[in-house]
Amino acid sequence: MKVASALKAQSELLAKSSELPATPMRIASLLLAHTLECEPSKLVLHSQNELSKEQEFEFKQNIKSFIKGTPIEYITQRVSFYSHEFTVLPDVLIPRPETELLVEKVANALKYKNAPKICEIGVGSGVISVILALLLPKAKITATDISQIALKNAKINADKFNVSLNLIQTSLMTGVSENGEKFDAIVSNPPYIAKDYALDKWVLSEPSAALFGGDRGDELLLEIIDLAAARGVPLLACEMGYDQKASLEKALDKNGYKASFYQDLAGFDRGFLAFKKEKI
Ligand SMILES: C[S@@+](CC[C@H](N)C(=O)[O-])C[C@H]1O[C@@H](n2cnc3c(N)ncnc32)[C@H](O)[C@@H]1O
Repeated sequence: MKVASALKAQSELLAKSSELPATPMRIASLLLAHTLECEPSKLVLHSQNELSKEQEFEFKQNIKSFIKGTPIEYITQRVSFYSHEFTVLPDVLIPRPETELLVEKVANALKYKNAPKICEIGVGSGVISVILALLLPKAKITATDISQIALKNAKINADKFNVSLNLIQTSLMTGVSENGEKFDAIVSNPPYIAKDYALDKWVLSEPSAALFGGDRGDELLLEIIDLAAARGVPLLACEMGYDQKASLEKALDKNGYKASFYQDLAGFDRGFLAFKKEKI
């Protein structure tokens, strides 16, 4: 079968599925480009080439797997973040574009601090810590996660970009420099979705420990605020749910932080940078 015919046939098959996260042609192009190991934009150059039996089989299998609910990023094990290509393993949260805002704001806030000590809670695939390490080359970055596979994924990406991260498997910051080193900043994109929030099957194939923050969703964020205050950390920066500003603002204020909230590109409240009042 020719590349163009395979693309058309599988797009038509995809079009029969409802609530696709992208157009059928876009999904089919990404998966066929993955099989052919080329950029999707270069598929047109191959359109009259014959697929080998193995390529045709792999492409069809990947389309079937996608229709059943496997995200494209888990099939290709690749994701773009901050204009870089990262590895993402199944069972690790797929980084979202809105998280680039958090990274940018933290890097900006710390750019004049010499060798800032940063702790990321919930490192996942490592995108936040890796980009911070690239933007702030003198930073000393510790990153935690409860998930072993996430830490393995973060190590793969740290090695890929040749940055050094101190990766620790623990909950929040338990056991991390409890009696010694003071951090200048804690950054986190924790699970913050409410337990019963409706999500599509592709999102639901991501690990629930990376998605759901509790009954309301903001429970882990509130714990992180208490933790940052207890450790006297001058800067706390987090991503959050669109409806969590009121509860978090109250908790931050109670804990002595002055928060500046930001919105994502769709105009939803999406995160905050909070500065300890007496320290700034
Ligand atoms: C929303 S994901 C964020 C991953 C990555 N930082 C990103 O922005 O793409 C949340 C991460 O927090 C981790 N996590 C959940 N509960 C945790 C806890 N109590 N302590 C540390 N990490 C936790 C999950 O395993 C997951 O990797």
